[in-house]
Amino acid sequence: MNLIAELERLAPSLQSGLARASSLSELEALHIDFLGRKGALARLMSRLPELSPGERPAFGKAANAVKEELTALVERRRSMLVAEAEESALARFDPSLPGRRPWTGSLHPITLVMEEICRLFNELGFETISGPEVETDFHNFEALNFPRDHPARDMQDTLFVSDGIVMRTHTSPMQVRSMLERKAPPLAVIAPGKVYRRDSDITHTPMFHQIEGLLVDKNISLAHLRGTLTLFLRRLFGSELKVRFRPSFFPFTEPSVEVDISCILCSGTGRRPSEQGGYDESCRICKSTGWLEILGCGMIDPAVFAHVGFDEQCTGFAFGLGVERVAMLKYGIGDLRMFFEGDLRFLRQFV
Ligand code: PHE
Repeated sequence: MNLIAELERLAPSLQSGLARASSLSELEALHIDFLGRKGALARLMSRLPELSPGERPAFGKAANAVKEELTALVERRRSMLVAEAEESALARFDPSLPGRRPWTGSLHPITLVMEEICRLFNELGFETISGPEVETDFHNFEALNFPRDHPARDMQDTLFVSDGIVMRTHTSPMQVRSMLERKAPPLAVIAPGKVYRRDSDITHTPMFHQIEGLLVDKNISLAHLRGTLTLFLRRLFGSELKVRFRPSFFPFTEPSVEVDISCILCSGTGRRPSEQGGYDESCRICKSTGWLEILGCGMIDPAVFAHVGFDEQCTGFAFGLGVERVAMLKYGIGDLRMFFEGDLRFLRQFV
């Protein structure tokens, strides 16, 4: 049998196979059958020794030509099949369907509220600072005028780390740290962060978030405190908000004040809007009082200034606010534990 004649039969035979190949995998199989290492062409080439030395160059040349031809046939069919596949994919593609957005994650509601509050104070000229969650007794209590063995330290349900070291029970140690660092007024800082108390039930978690504010200068009065906090609370909850200041006690402020705002849910009426319109019997958020306690504050006690080496001329105010409480009110969340469970169905709602 003439090898050259056999060579020449390869192209027509591949062509009829290709005509029947309707997928890329069938095409790949043909490619291997004809052009693979053990394919039809390779098998013919391996028979070269059957030829006389004089016939070999002509056969070699012919074989190369056939190889090129077969390769071209396969490639042509391949591009046709690829084009067909693309066309049918396009035919199935409905550009009028809504797109699917990749999920990118979102900020935790506590983070969102902390960022918003800090931004509001940054706009008023307060600088955001942060400090350690493991604190010395000096910063958390002593310098804040909690005398040693004073029962006021009990109020805080302290988690002790070791002798003289505690998990901070509030962000107020940042008052001490910022004054020690700056050495002299003026000073206006806002310090968000985690705090810890030995407390755990439906309305308390052992870790929660506070934001501390501190402003120190000369001739700062309760009026500045009142104006600043009223402006802040109205920016946070709306310009219609009513704000009320009540006397209270903290060891590190004198006078000490607690601030109430008109209830977010019932707008201070004490009665809940009912589903039918009008008002229902009682408001569950403010327990029908119309008021919600929102933060503690006061004028810095001179004893605190003495601890950090600020002179008697200094005056200032500080406040501390619970972030979870603000977030619950802002987003209408009824259960504090939602913040700590990490349930994506809850977290995905905050973007
Ligand atoms: N640190 C106080 C608390 O946790 C709040 C507070 C801060 C009160 C600053 C007055 C001034 O209850």
